[in-house]
Amino acid sequence: MKLIVVKDSEQGGKEAYQIFAEALKNGATVFGLATGSTPLTTYQKLVASKLDFSDAISINLDEYVGLKPDNPQSYQYFMQEHLFKSKPFKRSYLPQGDAKDAAQEVKRYDRVIAENPIDLQLLGIGRNGHIGFNEPGSDFTSATHKVALTPSTIAANARFFKNKDEVPRYAYSMGIGTILKSKKIILEAFGAAKAAAVAAMIEGPVTPACPASALQKHADVVAIVDEAAAAKLK
Ligand code: F6R
Repeated sequence: MKLIVVKDSEQGGKEAYQIFAEALKNGATVFGLATGSTPLTTYQKLVASKLDFSDAISINLDEYVGLKPDNPQSYQYFMQEHLFKSKPFKRSYLPQGDAKDAAQEVKRYDRVIAENPIDLQLLGIGRNGHIGFNEPGSDFTSATHKVALTPSTIAANARFFKNKDEVPRYAYSMGIGTILKSKKIILEAFGAAKAAAVAAMIEGPVTPACPASALQKHADVVAIVDEAAAAKLK
């Protein structure tokens, strides 16, 4: 895993932007995207740039189960607001939160990914080491699936909702197996709250107890980490 330590998320966004620009120049057409606060500076740089994604495809990591795409808390809405309305892609895929049949929905999403193998996947990391919504204990070979969110993830995500009770209890998420199939991966982590997870991901054993440690098994991962999130590395 290549490690880039930056001063802050602003710098981190610039580094990630460069990798997106390079990938696009070299013919990448399928971009795996994340939501949450971490990728925001990257999306700001992409929006401010001249990069053209109108021939590219985006595939997001995850979506809350039960939310309609026009719900302001949905990841579909988030992506529209922060990226797609300014930088449209040829096609953008997210799991459909309000799909009637969960088993069909995860199959559909896996078909989308199989037909559009991901060239560059952007990831954040949870305080408990999750990637996507693959919580500790997740199987490293998993495909897209419906997951029950842990109390710590519900508490962490409550900041985006009126209160904790409004946070959905389930999400659809690409699996770790799916994520590991991406050709190249960028993982961003900013802030002291991520320091323990970053140390476990990079220096800890490869174990389902820290889902992000699975990235040690991938040949082309760039971790872009600010000084606060790097503080627990040896
Ligand atoms: C979001 C996602 C999550 C987040 C993680 C960090 O699509 O898959 O794994 O990347 O929860 O969230 P933030 O960036 O809000 O700290």
